[in-house]
Amino acid sequence: MTPLWIPPLLAFLIGSIPFGLIIAKSKGINIREHGSGNIGATNVLRVVGKKYGITCLILDLLKGLIPTMAGISLITYAGASGAMGLSFLSPLAHETTQGQAQALHILTALATILGHNYSPWIAFKGGKGIATSAGALIALMPAGVLILILVWVALFYATKYVSVASIGAALSLPFITLFGSWFHGKFPDGNWNKPLFIFSIVIALLATWRHRSNIKNLLNGTEHRFEKKKK
Ligand code: G3P
Repeated sequence: MTPLWIPPLLAFLIGSIPFGLIIAKSKGINIREHGSGNIGATNVLRVVGKKYGITCLILDLLKGLIPTMAGISLITYAGASGAMGLSFLSPLAHETTQGQAQALHILTALATILGHNYSPWIAFKGGKGIATSAGALIALMPAGVLILILVWVALFYATKYVSVASIGAALSLPFITLFGSWFHGKFPDGNWNKPLFIFSIVIALLATWRHRSNIKNLLNGTEHRFEKKKK
């Protein structure tokens, strides 16, 4: 049995740390009973304050980025040690094909996001996964994340709804992934990263699903809008 399930498992556990809940609790607030009830940075900013929201954003992003980066390194190193028959170099040493390695990287990234969205520490009722997905995606496709940020910022400034910006950016992800493969001359003819494309579709659908209460609020006109406070 391959020990290569260890990076995704660790990624899930790290992703499941509910930073938003912990930060709000440090101020005596149960974040799940205020604002949108979400444990994410937007709600922490809305309910607890700007610096707490930014702290939550950074921590949620890092818990996507660090386990995914570490997982990619471990899997690559394990694959290289396995291929060379140098299993003493890595406890995870295991020969993998390029496709298997890509799939494992993606599984690790997905695990951090699922950990955040379905945290076992809070009865599997976690957040919406935008910051954690962004962190995981920085490890997988840093240039693509720059485009995602542009999409997010444009939508936010146009609508002043964080949820619209998040859903729109998530839905643009599969197109950005395809564009990246085409840009590098791999799509449609070359050996393009199909697991990454499938992953981007999963992330887009998952993020939209986790925003279903926001979609309902947008449709009935009760979604929270960020406006500049009048002096
Ligand atoms: O990333 C979450 C954001 O898109 C919406 O947050 O608190 O308004 O539901 P919230």
